[in-house]
Amino acid sequence: MAGEGISEVIRRRRTVKPKEFSDQMISREIIDEILENANWAPTHGFTEPWRFSVFTGDARHELAEFLAATYQAVTTEDTYRQNKYEGMKRNATLAPVVIVIGMKRQPSGKISELDEIQAVACAVQNMHLTATAHGIGGFWSSNSAATSEQMRDYIGLSGEDRALGLFYLGYPSNEWPVGKRQPIADKVRWVESKSGT
Ligand SMILES: Cc1cc2nc3c(=O)[nH]c(=O)nc-3n(C[C@H](O)[C@H](O)[C@H](O)COP(=O)(O)O)c2cc1C
Repeated sequence: MAGEGISEVIRRRRTVKPKEFSDQMISREIIDEILENANWAPTHGFTEPWRFSVFTGDARHELAEFLAATYQAVTTEDTYRQNKYEGMKRNATLAPVVIVIGMKRQPSGKISELDEIQAVACAVQNMHLTATAHGIGGFWSSNSAATSEQMRDYIGLSGEDRALGLFYLGYPSNEWPVGKRQPIADKVRWVESKSGT
């Protein structure tokens, strides 16, 4: 196991937005690898709640129209932003691959919704890291249309299932972005034995 390799991929992973993508297509082989690795995320009770709808080619235009119409439906005069509406129409067609992220609840509901959402987030991270290893950027967008009940139904889910957003994938047209984080020491509390035993 190459410990250095994984740290490099994790720290290199970056959010790259659709307007920063080139129009280079991602091969089917790489898309399959990205999806296969999502499937290896941890899952409480083996419910494997992640569901993905992969949009490429002309289907992206239909998705873009659906997103824009849904955005109009879920916003009010106060919350509507014209630039968001236009971004929604544009983004899905600027990315060569758009994956709608779904979470399917098991019928018994025995595993909590929180755990199911966390499992899906782990699956998305697996996808993002796999993309990084291939020099591909990703962007998880959780806008109101992408997480709406309308989107849940659009991807063939229902009831207690959820749509958790869009995951845009593409090759960056410019340099790989530089990341930033505050020190981990600010977010960790060590609890050690006072007696030293
Ligand atoms: C669950 C989740 C939802 C996100 N939704 C959005 C979003 O709707 N809009 C956005 O600009 N970024 C979104 N992001 C991406 C963050 O902006 C991004 O991760 C952050 O800027 C750090 O950049 P990095 O991913 O390159 O480290 C989301 C990230 C996560 C984990």
